[in-house]
Amino acid sequence: MADNKPIQPPTGTRDLYPIEAARRRFITEAWRRASINHGFEEVDGPTFESTELYTKKSGEGIVSEIFGVFSGKDEQGVKALGEKLARGEDAPAPYALRPEFTPTLARMYAARAASLPKPTKWFTAGPFFRAERPQRGRLREFLQWNCDVIGLALPEKPTAEDVARATAQADAEVIAACVGLLRELGLTENDFKVRINDRRAMGAVFEKGGVVPEAYPALFAHLDRIGKLAPEVWRTEASKLGVPDTLQLWFLNTMQLADNRDQSQFAGEMTGTLAALFSVWSESLAPIRKQLEAAGIPSGVIVEDVKIVRGLAYYTGMVFEVIVDGERAVAGGGRYDNLIELFGGPSTPAVGFGMGDVVLSLVLQDKGLMPSDAELMQIAGQSPDVFVISNGTPEADAALPSVLADLRRGTRESRGRDSLHARRTSKTTKNVGKLLQEAERSGAHFAAIVESSGEVTLKNLRTREQDQARTPIASLKAEVLKRLGRMDRGS
Ligand code: HAM
Repeated sequence: MADNKPIQPPTGTRDLYPIEAARRRFITEAWRRASINHGFEEVDGPTFESTELYTKKSGEGIVSEIFGVFSGKDEQGVKALGEKLARGEDAPAPYALRPEFTPTLARMYAARAASLPKPTKWFTAGPFFRAERPQRGRLREFLQWNCDVIGLALPEKPTAEDVARATAQADAEVIAACVGLLRELGLTENDFKVRINDRRAMGAVFEKGGVVPEAYPALFAHLDRIGKLAPEVWRTEASKLGVPDTLQLWFLNTMQLADNRDQSQFAGEMTGTLAALFSVWSESLAPIRKQLEAAGIPSGVIVEDVKIVRGLAYYTGMVFEVIVDGERAVAGGGRYDNLIELFGGPSTPAVGFGMGDVVLSLVLQDKGLMPSDAELMQIAGQSPDVFVISNGTPEADAALPSVLADLRRGTRESRGRDSLHARRTSKTTKNVGKLLQEAERSGAHFAAIVESSGEVTLKNLRTREQDQARTPIASLKAEVLKRLGRMDRGS
C-alpha cells in the first residue's frame, strides 16, 4: 500500500499561502524602498557558501548554527566525511547555507575594492538559514535585510578628526536607514529603541580595568552572555579571562542599570573607580551621539547600553540592536573595520546591520500596522486592473478570451507597463450582477462588461461609476491605461 502520510515542512520553516506571501512582499518592498531612498544599491550572493567563509570570520555562535550542505555529485567526499563522523571526529560539511550576509559582502567587496567608490553603499534582502531552536521571533529560515556602508569619504590627507567624523557619519547613516524603515512602517519612538554601544568604548573600559588586549575577543563573547548566566557563573568564567573583581562588578552593576536609563542616575550610584569607568565609557560614545543627532534621529529613540556587545566576532566599533519591548531584537549590526582585509582586500572600514522579517512581522501585526488582506493584495500588485465579464450572450462569450489576451499582452518597448492584470470568473453563472460582485471582491479597479463582439461597458469599481457610453473593444486597453494614469511614452 502507498505511504500517504503527509510530509511536514522542516521545523522552523514556513509555507507561505497567498496572503502570507503578500505580507512578506509588503515587508520586502518596504525594505527595498527604504534602502534605495537612503542611497543603497542592491547586491546579492550565493545562498550557500564554503563553510570556511564562516568558520574563519564569524565566531563560534553562528558556526554552531550552520546548516551543512553536501554536493550530491561528490560521492567520495561525502563518504569520507561520513567515515570521519563515524569515528567521532569533527567533520563539517564543505558548504553551508548562508547564516548571514556580511562575510559574502566582505569577499565581494575585497574582490573589486580598487574599482569601487568610497563609500560603497550596498543592500540585500533574501533568505538566510540558522539551525537555532525555533521560538517566538526566531526561525530556521528567515528573510534578512542588510544595509552596509563600506569605505569612508575622506579628504586627501585626512586628520584623525576627519576619520573620526566620517566614521561616526557612516555609523549614523546605517542607523538612519534602519530607523527610517521602522518609522515608514508606522512605528514611533514609543514602540522601539535603538540600543547602542561601542566596542572601542568597551575596550577603553577593559584597558582602564586592567584586562590584557588578547582577552578582549573572548570577553566580548562572554559579555554577550551576561544576561543568560547566573551572576556567580558569569563571574567565575570572567575571572578565568583575567577580568579583575572591580571590573566584574562594574559590568554587573552597569548592566543591571542599563535598562532604566538615566545616565546621571548611573553616575550617582557609582563611586570611585566604578564611576570613573562609567565616564570613560560614556565619553567614548560622544562622537556617534553627535552624528545621530545631526542625522535627525530623535534622541528618545537612542539608548546607550553597556549590555549591547553583539555575538559576532568581527565587530570593532559601534554596535547596536533595535529592540521592541518584549520581543527579541528586530535588527542588529555594527562596525567591522578588519573584515575586508581578512578577505584579502585593502584595509577598509565598514559598518552595517541586518533586520529579519520574523520579529518585524510580529511587531507590525501586534501593533495593528500590518495592512488589511485586501490592501495587502493591492500593495503586492495582486488586485486586478480589469475584471472582464460577459453579458451572457453567445457573441460576448466568444469575444471574452481575446479581450483578456489583449489586455494582458505587454510590449518590450514599454517594459511591460502596458500589460494589464486582467481576470475573468471561473464560475458558470451568467448573472451580471453576481459577476460584478465577484469583481468587487477581487479588489479589481475596473469591470469591463463585454456587450458584443465589438463593444464593452466600463465600470469603475472604486467609485462605482458606470459609463453611459460603450467603449469599442479596439480602444479598451488604451482607455484603461489612460484611466489608470499609465499612458506614458510608448504606450
Ligand atoms: P544578527 O544580529 O545575527 O546580525 O542578525 C540580525 C537580525 O537578523 C536579527 O536582529 C534578527 O532580526 C534577524 N535574525 C537573526 N537570526 C534569526 C533567526 N534565526 N530567525 C529570525 N530572524 C533572525 C547579523 O546577521 C549581521 N551579519 C548583521 C550585520 C550586517 N552586521 C553588519 N552588517
